[in-house]
Amino acid sequence: MNNKLIAKAKKVLDANFQEGGFTIPSKGLYPFQWKWDSGFIALGFAHYNMAKAKREIETLLDTQWENGFIPHIIFHTESDTYFPGPDFHESHLHPKSSRKYRSSGMTQPPVTGFVLERLYEIAEDKDDLLKFVKTQIDKVYENHLYFYENRDLNDEGLVYIYHNWESGTDNSPIWDDIWATMNPPEYTFERRDTSHVDPAQRPSKREYDHYLYIIDIAKQHNYDDGKIAELSPFLVLDPLFNTMLIRSNEALIKLYKIIGDNQEKVDYLQRQQQKSIKGLNNKLFNKELGAYVHFDLRGNKQVPFLSSSSFTPLYSNAPSKERLEILTETMIKKFGDEGRYLCASFDPTHKRFDPRKYWRGPVWINMNWILYQGLKKHGYTELADRLKADSIELIEKNGFFEYFDSRKVNPDSVKSGYGGDNFSWSAALTIDFLMDKS
Ligand code: SER
Repeated sequence: MNNKLIAKAKKVLDANFQEGGFTIPSKGLYPFQWKWDSGFIALGFAHYNMAKAKREIETLLDTQWENGFIPHIIFHTESDTYFPGPDFHESHLHPKSSRKYRSSGMTQPPVTGFVLERLYEIAEDKDDLLKFVKTQIDKVYENHLYFYENRDLNDEGLVYIYHNWESGTDNSPIWDDIWATMNPPEYTFERRDTSHVDPAQRPSKREYDHYLYIIDIAKQHNYDDGKIAELSPFLVLDPLFNTMLIRSNEALIKLYKIIGDNQEKVDYLQRQQQKSIKGLNNKLFNKELGAYVHFDLRGNKQVPFLSSSSFTPLYSNAPSKERLEILTETMIKKFGDEGRYLCASFDPTHKRFDPRKYWRGPVWINMNWILYQGLKKHGYTELADRLKADSIELIEKNGFFEYFDSRKVNPDSVKSGYGGDNFSWSAALTIDFLMDKS
């Protein structure tokens, strides 16, 4: 165990924890609560302060809307260091939105199910943790219900995202061809992110025009799911998002069985799970590329690019033995040459790859954690260990940054840590990597 690094990581997390019972991802750049960040952050706290871990999840789930939806950003406090804030998102337009919290009107990958399961694994006092799970699990179940009832357009177990920010992989080159089908107005606004971070590491102004335009369309229809499905120029089946749902279904089923007396919910989740796994394997696997890809529902076609999201189904029981082999081979062949840390967020052999720009190439610790868990789960120990060692080396060399250059020798700079510094999930997952007893 690397006690010094663990101590530093705890310091980052504790400094980012807020009085309101949530943790900001990074001071200045991300001053509110983010949905999937909160899940990963709780896993770090769980190893040394379970009360804070529980609080993080409790706060997040308290923001749930009446229809089961959980927003991607919750604006607990006022801050002028972030754009777009609550006045742009105007999620109150939705008739079932929270009356208690201001938030965005979009969501993020559903990680909370497997986070509850992992908290239970980490907890020393299992009875106490199970008591906590009992108070929260139905909210996660309702969230899954929301997805299946509102976002599974073709009744195939796959749920859509209507905004790139819902994917979590904000400005991935995957979206470039979708942007090419749109012509949004030139918005006038003041970027805040680029006052915290070198613009070379962030999305462009024109990319932001697209992001804002999709929100505008949703707002014109009061964030009505049916209207969004009909009118949003961005409508995508994302392998990462759907894998998180599948993996979280798995976790909910397991936890409900431990709790007992919830057969109807277990039955429902098992039925959906089967459908989702079938959908993921039939619709999102790309044989030529040897991995899972995104599907553009507007263009009715796969988006044939490899990204770190392509391998995330490893973290579920969806891929067959044969597909597990193919996935790991593709990862090593395309992303894993000697001169590179695993796992770049976009195909390093592709011309759209950019090693420094947000989700267009750098390594992210949360994606590495997901892939590590998946590889370990299926017995690919050597590759799992490499992912873990690469993650720790990047953090040790550079600090708890938001993302990292995947090149071991970086000709552009001496620093290879980019985006927000003292980034909460990088710290939290370092703790989970290093303190994992399983
Ligand atoms: N991560 C996005 C941003 O950069 C929003 O979720 O602001």
